[in-house]
Amino acid sequence: MQVPVITLDGPSGSGKGTISQRLAEQLGWHYLDSGALYRLLACAAARDGIALDDVDGLVALAGRIHGEFGFSAAGEERVLLDGVPVTTELRTEQLGNAASRIAALPAVRAALLAWQRRYRQLPGLVADGRDMGTVVFPDADLKIFLTANPAERAIRRYNQLKNIGKEVTLESVVGEVKARDERDRSRAASPLVPAVDAHLLDNSSLDVEETVALVLAHASSIF
Ligand code: C5P
Repeated sequence: MQVPVITLDGPSGSGKGTISQRLAEQLGWHYLDSGALYRLLACAAARDGIALDDVDGLVALAGRIHGEFGFSAAGEERVLLDGVPVTTELRTEQLGNAASRIAALPAVRAALLAWQRRYRQLPGLVADGRDMGTVVFPDADLKIFLTANPAERAIRRYNQLKNIGKEVTLESVVGEVKARDERDRSRAASPLVPAVDAHLLDNSSLDVEETVALVLAHASSIF
């Protein structure tokens, strides 16, 4: 039996992480935050002094790091890199940018493919990222391309960073999010584009509950 998959792709600040987690919770399915794998690899590269353009070094590193993703009893995210907590560092815009730089390298993307596909387990998977519906799970049962207008996305990202205690200005976040999205959209390897069979969903004026309800309405016609 093929394990069912729902993919949510979209630019940063589109809310795909929050929406995907809620969907996975409500459906009782597994959840893959694929961006976290790119961030973890970038984090390990900084730890080991591997340059962000050292393709061979990054590919070898991807094969030997161990990541653990989970939540504390209080519901706070907890990520371990080779047993060491890296949660706060992982969510900085600095690591988001480093992740975006290594994510443009085809060999790095290939090195992370099998790891991502291992998350596809019964009873089902909700996967979020940039190429979930186009490359990693092209046969997904339901594909959503989630977006929101750039000002709204920058405000959401700013609030996320403030919530984890980062001292940032809205102006700097606007610039960083814009640069990262442009790089993600324009790269040759698995660019950020909707799959041809994706449902486009602009949630600029929707809250989390409303967005989750819309995705669940699509899902209920399939599962
Ligand atoms: O989603 P998140 O902001 O954590 O992703 C960080 C970076 O990782 C993105 O800007 C993108 O360059 C890269 N990424 C990717 N493909 C994915 C997920 C993330 O290229 N499936």
